[in-house]
Amino acid sequence: MEDKIHVRASSSEYDVIIGAGILSDTGSIVKGVLPNALKVLVVSDTNVAPLYMKTVTDSLEAGGFDVYEYVFEAGERSKNITTVAGMWDAMAREGFTRSDAVLALGGGVAGDMAGFAAATFLRGISVVQVPTSLLAMVDSSVGGKTGIDLPAAKNQVGAFLQPSVVIEDTDCLKTLSPELFTEGMGEVIKYAFIMDIPLYERLKAIADSGNASSLASDTEELTEVVKACVADKADVIASDEFDTGRRQILNFGHTAGHVIESLSDYTLMHGVCVAKGMGIFIDSCVAAGLCESEEADKMKSLIEAYGLPSGDDITSDKLTAGAMNDKKKRGNTLSLILVNKIGHAEIVKMNEDEYLAFLSRRGI
Ligand SMILES: NC(=O)c1ccc[n+]([C@@H]2O[C@H](COP(=O)([O-])OP(=O)(O)OC[C@H]3O[C@@H](n4cnc5c(N)ncnc54)[C@H](O)[C@@H]3O)[C@@H](O)[C@H]2O)c1
Ligand SMILES: [Zn+2]
Repeated sequence: MEDKIHVRASSSEYDVIIGAGILSDTGSIVKGVLPNALKVLVVSDTNVAPLYMKTVTDSLEAGGFDVYEYVFEAGERSKNITTVAGMWDAMAREGFTRSDAVLALGGGVAGDMAGFAAATFLRGISVVQVPTSLLAMVDSSVGGKTGIDLPAAKNQVGAFLQPSVVIEDTDCLKTLSPELFTEGMGEVIKYAFIMDIPLYERLKAIADSGNASSLASDTEELTEVVKACVADKADVIASDEFDTGRRQILNFGHTAGHVIESLSDYTLMHGVCVAKGMGIFIDSCVAAGLCESEEADKMKSLIEAYGLPSGDDITSDKLTAGAMNDKKKRGNTLSLILVNKIGHAEIVKMNEDEYLAFLSRRGI
């Protein structure tokens, strides 16, 4: 069984196809959306390629494509211009034209880089996203943000390129480590809080019945959860593809989370830091009288039920200084995402002093 969620961005429209075991349909799906493509460069990393490359390349070959593989060393450290240049070279060597395509098979690192290589090669060819991590399925593969890191900061260079199609085989999540699964849940819970009460109820019911820790192996339930998140992201993208307004609600937990992540020298996982960041804002909102403590307790309990931290003892000074360095500041003003009622996010502007005062009410 597979399901389709249609993404209506202003620049293009495409489907996200979600189901267990659909990886072997890759060739026919790609043929359906890119009938003129002859060549496909499959980009993957050294962890994912041994698990899933063959299924994907066999399927593409059966669909009549000439298939080329590009495998890079797994990890965020590979997300740089050298790796992308390797993709450009491979495509140039094999005579790729504007009707050919890149396919990203892996987590957000593969997706961001393959997307960026496609956005830039010959001034833009097609990309197909085949995410295999939970984070990539619910977040990075949908929405068209692509890019690489610079030594100075993450995601500093990039382009918008919506994929032609996204293929999400939830069976792939079975090989994810428990740590990677848990960190992906940080983003999943974020959707519930910012915009999705039914998803909150679903996650709470799973946790209440003692099944939070076994969600990773319950493919049917997990597929429903992934579908809900993708539908939420699709909804946000449809209203604000280029991140100038409503799309910012996806940053809930990220303003504080990014600072914690970067101060840990990226030894802490992104989704874990997002969970801490959500907890810090929830506490600050309660202290400011914006959020009922009962509502806050519900949110923090859900975060903890899925094995994530719901706070951090980092000082308000450090959080403020870090946020002012962050790229999301516009002039001297920060756009902050607050959730005072489950399912409803608001965007609030604060200057440096206001942000420090807001956080300091927590007493740290
Ligand atoms: N473009 C966007 O909108 C967007 C949004 C959020 C995050 N991102 C980016 O995504 C990246 C993080 O994504 P990520 O957490 O997927 O990182 P990742 O791609 O490094 O994957 C994490 C790890 O999981 C492994 N892995 C992936 N799928 C697997 C599977 N099915 N089985 C076993 N191992 C598997 C990978 O090899 C890697 O070691 C960051 O670079 C971040 O900036 C982009
Ligand atoms: Zn995130």
